[in-house]
Amino acid sequence: MDVEKILEKFNIKPTPKMIEGFKNDISDLVELKTLSDEELEILVYNYFSIGESYFFRDENLLEKVVKVCKSYNRPVNVLSVGCSKGEEVYSLAYLFKKNGVKYKIKGIDANSERIKSAKEGVYTFWSVRFLDESKIKEIFDVKEGKFVLKKEYKENVEFEVSKIENYDSNEKFDIILIRRVLIYISNLTLVIEKLKTMLNKDGFIVLGNGEYHRELLEHFEPMDDASAILKITGHPKKHTILKEKTKEIKKDLGRRVNREIQELFRNEIEFVTEKVEILIKENKLEDAYKEVEKALNKNVTCYILWRLKASIEFKMGKIQESLLSTKRALFLNTFDEELLTFKKFLESIIEGG
Ligand SMILES: C[S@@+](CC[C@H](N)C(=O)[O-])C[C@H]1O[C@@H](n2cnc3c(N)ncnc32)[C@H](O)[C@@H]1O
Repeated sequence: MDVEKILEKFNIKPTPKMIEGFKNDISDLVELKTLSDEELEILVYNYFSIGESYFFRDENLLEKVVKVCKSYNRPVNVLSVGCSKGEEVYSLAYLFKKNGVKYKIKGIDANSERIKSAKEGVYTFWSVRFLDESKIKEIFDVKEGKFVLKKEYKENVEFEVSKIENYDSNEKFDIILIRRVLIYISNLTLVIEKLKTMLNKDGFIVLGNGEYHRELLEHFEPMDDASAILKITGHPKKHTILKEKTKEIKKDLGRRVNREIQELFRNEIEFVTEKVEILIKENKLEDAYKEVEKALNKNVTCYILWRLKASIEFKMGKIQESLLSTKRALFLNTFDEELLTFKKFLESIIEGG
């Protein structure tokens, strides 16, 4: 499969320059001829994915980061670049607290609306959709269908609107998370140099699962077996030496990509949801119904899909079926008050005959 076809599949439209940059970045991996279609798909998706984030994205990676931080045996100073609406920052705050790590976290993002939301800490179900009920209760107060972050997770956390290119501070960090952001950067060399000066000597940077940037590897090297966690190399490595290294990285990338495959399906749900909503708007209910059923076959525990199914069935006049789907959605997410009202409404129609 080629890159353009994958972009078409996910309806992503990057500039030709971005596509060229991506092809250049992954050329070593392509040369190794071990990249499967599925892996390429994940790489493409990750590279060009939209500004969205959610709580505990790449959770096992975050846990690894916390483990390394704990080993410092001192408070850690963290920067989250491209922190979106704060999901990554607050997920880390939760994990640090749980593991008894003292911390200070700064989140920066180029988008001022996202930083405003990050400061507020109020989320819709979409941001917490992969959390189980007990974690939701630990982290949020649920008010009128919104998920309001508990005060304790805002401690030692700050946000600022800033592009990494212009971020002005003399502060040094132990960890800089820069996950799914480098794709947006036109002057990667400048940002790499900046990251190097902002990091403490034994500090590290963290990429997202399934991310690979060749130029970065000339200055940073993977820590142990985790190729998403990188520390500064003593001397910048020439590209020829890197080719050997790439083989090793490819192995770990494979593992990370497998995890990402699971996440990709989560994102695919978002993609399906958008598609179905368009079909509903166009009143193509049969087509919308087929799409939802197809997606549910792959992920039967997805609350969003059951919710969508219930709404299509209602529009199609299938009241009994709609009630059943509503009950399933509520079973998977008991917090949805709107759906609870909808269930009562359906029951009253059925009772009324
Ligand atoms: C795909 S999101 C990634 C969010 C989060 N890091 C994650 O992995 O889930 C990319 C974010 O980076 C931000 N961004 C893009 N270019 C940036 C830049 N030059 N400096 C800082 N943030 C940037 C976007 O506004 C967006 O919120």
